[in-house]
Amino acid sequence: MSIKSVPHDAESAASCVAYRAHILYFRGRPASSGEDDATISLEDGLLVVEDGRIAQVGDYDTLAPALDADTEIVDWRGKLIMPGFIDTHVHYPQTDIIASPATGLLPWLETYTFPTEARFGDPAYATDVARFFVDELLRCGTTTALVYCTVHPESADALFTESHARNMRMVAGKVMMDRNCPEYLRDTAESGARDSEMLIQRWHGKGRQMYGLTPRFAPTSTEAQLAVCGELAQQYKDVFIQSHVAENADEIKWVSELFPQARSYLDVYDRFGLLRPRAVYGHSIWLDETDRMRMRDTGAVAAHCPTSNLFLASGLFDFAAADAAGMAYTLATDVGGGTSFSMLQTMNEAHKVARMSGSHLSAHTMLYLATEGAAQSLDLGGTIGTLAPGAEADFVVLDPHATPLLARRTARAESLEELLFALVMLGDDRTIAATYVAGRKM
Ligand code: GUN
Ligand code: ZN
Repeated sequence: MSIKSVPHDAESAASCVAYRAHILYFRGRPASSGEDDATISLEDGLLVVEDGRIAQVGDYDTLAPALDADTEIVDWRGKLIMPGFIDTHVHYPQTDIIASPATGLLPWLETYTFPTEARFGDPAYATDVARFFVDELLRCGTTTALVYCTVHPESADALFTESHARNMRMVAGKVMMDRNCPEYLRDTAESGARDSEMLIQRWHGKGRQMYGLTPRFAPTSTEAQLAVCGELAQQYKDVFIQSHVAENADEIKWVSELFPQARSYLDVYDRFGLLRPRAVYGHSIWLDETDRMRMRDTGAVAAHCPTSNLFLASGLFDFAAADAAGMAYTLATDVGGGTSFSMLQTMNEAHKVARMSGSHLSAHTMLYLATEGAAQSLDLGGTIGTLAPGAEADFVVLDPHATPLLARRTARAESLEELLFALVMLGDDRTIAATYVAGRKM
């Protein structure tokens, strides 16, 4: 039979297309070396995509001869195809204040964050930033993100509209915030709940869009607001919840003054029914053992944000304690507190944070955490984060030769772990040769 191989820059928009490359994905958390059956690595692999989903994946020699003669095979040999990255905590309204100098979380919020967020009541401005933001995610190989908007419902409409137009699987929510912030950024317990519910009805389950209830963090919500948020969470069991916890010492002291009855910062959320599967807590640095057990027992998830934690000097996430407790954790950029949109750069910094606290994260483990691990933690396993048949075809093409240094280093890699480690430590947006969303090249 004849095989219809096309160069990657001559790909058509046919509904069934196959991709030839080194294919890598995970079916569980890999051992450090990656040498176990949790990692699926097909050096000359073929990924067959049909109608936006993965139809088949396997060795080229096995699958190619059985394809219909007119199926186009896009030639990405020399590159690596992986599931698209999942960024589990990011603020799109902070795109324009990324890399702003500040001396820690609370001054940074006051000086940069709140003033810039004030502008998102203007739909034209929100749309302009949302457009840039989703395109920047895609340029960096991120196909799903858990996104904070601002207090304005218009900001969530703008983000969802752009994401829906690109058919991305996105989780986002309007921030709820009814105290301890400038007057111009405040909702009330009632209006925050009403607007959130309206947005759930408008967006949750529309195409690939999903809603996340977003109480910003305990200091900016009254007990009344946290209570209505808990009620909405109870009513809409498959929506996400996203907030911040135990990020910074000054913040934790503030929470203990605002909520003297609570045993800990995390306990504030627990008291209002906000710990459960699909509840994702940014940072989770300064948890104690009881907190970590509650995270595990409730199915809540920590989003580790290394570039932000180092930039704002918040602290070091304790990987060993999280593993010992058996709690779920994921990786996230936290732009604009975080300093990069790239999940590769985020992995680079996560590696260093882990080393500083006596742990070691292999490249296999970090790539798992940014794909299959995140999907499992978010209760989206089998849907995203994998290249297994049936999954939505969100994937990235990584170029091990993207820069002269990467080419030189990866040429000398003596194992898959060494190759992936170089990609993670030296990689960034330049390493992303292409990003596909539901089978469509972006
Ligand atoms: N805590 C409350 N709001 C924020 C925010 O916007 N960024 C970070 N990093 N922490 C927060
Ligand atoms: Zn954040």
